[in-house]
Amino acid sequence: MSLAQDPNLIVGFEKADDAGVYKITDELALIQTVDFFTPIVDDPYIFGQIAAANALSDVYAMGGKPLTAMNVVCFPVKTLDIGVLKAILRGGLDKLIEAETTLVGGHSVENNEIKYGLSITGIIHPEKVLTNMTARIGDYLILTKPLGTGIINTAIKGGLAGEETITKVSNTMVTLNKDASIAMQEVGVSACTDITGFGLLGHLSEMIRGNGFGMIVYAGKVPYFPEAKEFATKGMVPGGTYRNKDFFSQWIRFESTVPQYLQDIFFDPQTSGGLLISVPRGKADNLLTQLREKNVNEAVIIGEVVAEPKEKIIVT
Ligand code: CO
Ligand code: CO
Ligand code: CO
Repeated sequence: MSLAQDPNLIVGFEKADDAGVYKITDELALIQTVDFFTPIVDDPYIFGQIAAANALSDVYAMGGKPLTAMNVVCFPVKTLDIGVLKAILRGGLDKLIEAETTLVGGHSVENNEIKYGLSITGIIHPEKVLTNMTARIGDYLILTKPLGTGIINTAIKGGLAGEETITKVSNTMVTLNKDASIAMQEVGVSACTDITGFGLLGHLSEMIRGNGFGMIVYAGKVPYFPEAKEFATKGMVPGGTYRNKDFFSQWIRFESTVPQYLQDIFFDPQTSGGLLISVPRGKADNLLTQLREKNVNEAVIIGEVVAEPKEKIIVT
């Protein structure tokens, strides 16, 4: 039996969703996900926090509760101070504690390049799983964090971002999507994903593909870091942005009023990005109120799900 045919596999890889979901009983399903990457900021403790917030995010995007975690570590033990690794792991652990998730183990290998992340296991009721495939015509689209972390991380690596910018963007990346997830579970929404490597427009493309509806994105409403505009205008755009643009442009139509830097920001791969929630129109105000009450202050409506054009996203 291939995995895809196992009747208990509720969400597998074929739908490009955030995590796998496997049904144990009629009341209980497991959510499983793994994510790890190379450092994006110099401070090892903050890098550890970002990696953990990013790994936990896939469970939150599905409306689940993370339970346990395992560290995945690559580290050059012979050439780098072990204190760096300790700081990374401490950052990860502190985020797990905040997420009320138990670290149960992990695995490390010696490697020339630092890489860190986690495998997370969560739980959910099998009928409450939120995927990226169930948006409905008439829904509003709400984004909970500003965009531009990929562009700014590229500037950080090039030594071009100031301390203030690094702190501001780091604070966003270490923020758990936990409260946003709880708010959307309380209100009841149609679909959700977190915005990560495919960028805003890549993840939105995944939500419309094969579903017979389209989307409108209000370019002027989408939150982003002003520094991302500054760096993108200077041409500092990561390779991943171009890859996303090449692949996903077939589903996107930009109106001529949308400037180039915004197009770059909308394709920009995000690290530990926000949730993109598709919510029935009549519940949108309630969701925004709940998000504000939980201090998810940047959340705004950025678009809507429309019947026409089918399987296209108009950015206006
Ligand atoms: Co995800
Ligand atoms: Co992921
Ligand atoms: Co091992």
